[in-house]
Amino acid sequence: MAPPKRLLVTGGAGFIGSHFVESRLAAGDRVTVLDAFDGFLYSSALKRENAALLQRHSKAEALTIVEGDIRDDALLATVVAGHDTIVHLAGIAGVRPSLRDPAFYCDVNVTGTAKLLVAARTAGIDRFVFASSSSVYGNPPRLPADEDVALVPQSPYAATKRSGELLLEAWANTHPAARLASLRFFTVYGPRQRPDMAIRTFASKLLQDAPIDLFGDGSMRRDYTFVSDIVRGIEATVRNLDDRCGHRAFNLGRGETVDLRTLVAALEAVTGRTARVNAAPKPAGDVDATYASISRARDELGWVPEVSLADGLRAVIASLR
Ligand SMILES: NC(=O)c1ccc[n+]([C@@H]2O[C@H](COP(=O)([O-])OP(=O)(O)OC[C@H]3O[C@@H](n4cnc5c(N)ncnc54)[C@H](O)[C@@H]3O)[C@@H](O)[C@H]2O)c1
Repeated sequence: MAPPKRLLVTGGAGFIGSHFVESRLAAGDRVTVLDAFDGFLYSSALKRENAALLQRHSKAEALTIVEGDIRDDALLATVVAGHDTIVHLAGIAGVRPSLRDPAFYCDVNVTGTAKLLVAARTAGIDRFVFASSSSVYGNPPRLPADEDVALVPQSPYAATKRSGELLLEAWANTHPAARLASLRFFTVYGPRQRPDMAIRTFASKLLQDAPIDLFGDGSMRRDYTFVSDIVRGIEATVRNLDDRCGHRAFNLGRGETVDLRTLVAALEAVTGRTARVNAAPKPAGDVDATYASISRARDELGWVPEVSLADGLRAVIASLR
């Protein structure tokens, strides 16, 4: 069994972060969560609920929760030291709002990541995993998108995630001992999912018999990945840092692509309800399709997703009910 780790998880009170921290605490690691309980994208109260849940399920000495901002240099100087790995999930997500406030996205996602890297280097921490996004692909020239395909970001959010990857790349090129990974998450869903995301919105509306806004003609496709598979992917990445130096990007997706109409039909099948659907214009910045090639993660991390869309949707519906 691997020895317990001392992990710093930024954004650990968020959707993906809280699932990851829960899993690591159960495995015996010591975890510090650094989270601003930010209220830009959705309510801070939900992040506080996640943090309270983590506290209820952990031994007091195993979990430390620090409320603070990754852009606060003085705070980073006190919080970062003493960990062996940083899993950097804090960030402002969301394609559409990034078109309205790109400077804010740059500040948190790019400047914040740069400051965290400096703090890691100062504290002598070489192991760093960054939450990137499938959005870096934009509308790529081929699908499924492998990690080497040309990147054509379509939104400021995507540009900030690509910038974060490049900061890690530059760090690796100047610090040979650095062990870094950027994980390109493909539309993550599951219990405690962000309320701004399609599956959570559609599922809630279906259960309330409220109309669902379906963007475009319903042909937009996404590669939906269940959160427990993402957690296992982050864990496999942290283990993989033992075996190599430098920076590597990995897709973490289900490796299937599903259009919006099929998604709604799958939700109808799971709930036994019939959706009322409104046609809505396709928002700017949204890409036509995401579809992950997962060969690299399979071959190098030994990771394969396990949860089918039907099983994942059943878990979402059960949690909402
Ligand atoms: N959910 C997805 O489908 C998805 C897909 C691709 C990439 N990502 C990325 O994965 C990460 C986690 O996503 P999520 O869905 O759990 O989002 P989330 O919004 O639930 O979690 C992000 C967390 O970061 C915290 N945060 C925001 N700004 C901060 C700051 N300045 N300092 C400290 N903490 C701050 C928030 O309070 C929140 O708890 C994000 O970086 C996101 O961009 C998510």
